Amino acid sequence: MTIPDVLAFAKEWMGRVLENGDTAIDATAGTGRDTLHLAHCVGSSGHVFSFDIQTEALEQTKQRLEQHQLHERTTLINKGHENAAAQIPSEHREKLKAAVFNLGYLPGGDKTITTRTETTIQAISQLLDIIKSGGLLFVVVYPGHPEGRMEKDKLEEYAAALPQRDIQVLRYEFMNQVNQPPYLFIFDKR
Ligand SMILES: C[S@@+](CC[C@H](N)C(=O)[O-])C[C@H]1O[C@@H](n2cnc3c(N)ncnc32)[C@H](O)[C@@H]1O
Repeated sequence: MTIPDVLAFAKEWMGRVLENGDTAIDATAGTGRDTLHLAHCVGSSGHVFSFDIQTEALEQTKQRLEQHQLHERTTLINKGHENAAAQIPSEHREKLKAAVFNLGYLPGGDKTITTRTETTIQAISQLLDIIKSGGLLFVVVYPGHPEGRMEKDKLEEYAAALPQRDIQVLRYEFMNQVNQPPYLFIFDKR
């Protein structure tokens, strides 16, 4: 047996927290891998809202969903995740059980278009307000590039200051991997 890597561990917990009929948010659609997984997890009566500022990313996400015939349970939104809470209709907000941020830049895309510390924390904070009690918010951080390093530092500061009675935060990371591997925060809304 091996310990699951960051992405596998996050996916496993998305599957544990989401049930048929739930709402989920992919805050950084990118190539659509996370959106696809969430769409599987929310079942035929659930829904996924997926955000990206690049049309190229949403196009890749759309194609991936269509290949798996899961596009009908997903809404793709070409806006920054800092607007996410306002974009979710109230009937879906009430069912919000998971949100995922996979930070950084689009794989194979323009590396200068990346998530930014300030808007990342703004979005996380908004979504933690509206996510249901018992819901989980996942953030995968890549400290191997300059903005990612800043996101890592600020997120650690932000997470450490959250009141434990409202939100518990898990940090999942491998200590001795080379090349600054990604690591994961899971925010658990009480
Ligand atoms: C590492 S990729 C996401 C990978 C993706 N989850 C997947 O499964 O392939 C990060 C994405 O965040 C997007 N992004 C950057 N800033 C954003 C913002 N403010 N709101 C939403 N998406 C943003 C980028 O365009 C990029 O596609």
